[in-house]
Amino acid sequence: MQISPSILAADFANLEREIGRISSADWAHVDVMDGHFVPNLTLGLPVVQALAEVSPVPLDVHLMIEDPDRWAAQYADAGARSVTFHVEAAADVVATARSIREAGARAAIALKPDTSFAGYADMLAEVDMVLVMTVEPGFGGQSFMADQMDKVTQVREAVDRAGVPVWIQVDGGVSADTIETCAQAGADVFVAGSAVYGQQDPAAAVERLRSQAQASGGGAPAR
Ligand code: DX5
Ligand code: ZN
Repeated sequence: MQISPSILAADFANLEREIGRISSADWAHVDVMDGHFVPNLTLGLPVVQALAEVSPVPLDVHLMIEDPDRWAAQYADAGARSVTFHVEAAADVVATARSIREAGARAAIALKPDTSFAGYADMLAEVDMVLVMTVEPGFGGQSFMADQMDKVTQVREAVDRAGVPVWIQVDGGVSADTIETCAQAGADVFVAGSAVYGQQDPAAAVERLRSQAQASGGGAPAR
């Protein structure tokens, strides 16, 4: 059970300090938005490269951009240890995943709420993680979509059936109120923005969320 706080909810004027406040996390989730794939614009390669140099935890980059085929591997080169791209934006999902792995990072695919997993089940050997979005991508602080839990369970069943070491991430509205539902559905990596950075002590919030997920009895079966 891993926690990946989203720095989208942090103070963008002080990113080095803010990323230093989540040293208890497993990853730092960095949302890259291009103003085209989603109606919001955040940061890109130079900022990811600078963050990789100062972060106490590895970077989990979530690309919400058009043409990830062209850009994804460059985020691995910039220092991201995990690079997630949206299948809706990719021309060639398998080739893009391979380009990320060849650049030395974990490769992950993301599914928007209206995107079904069915078409991607046969690609599990090509990826290290599947991100099931639990909000429409673009903004932090939105309400959790419980109707995505069936998809999480479908991915969990496919991963276990295939016997592959693929992690299942949820992102959007994950909090103390919703993390247990996610874990019970089969998720094992949890992105949380406002639920971590909205607290006085973000590092303590990370520990609490992880304990809650662990206590829920969900996630990957022990092998
Ligand atoms: C939304 C981003 C999320 C966002 C989550 O498009 O992908 O990572 O920061 O924020 P919360 O946890 O506040 O919903
Ligand atoms: Zn995200």
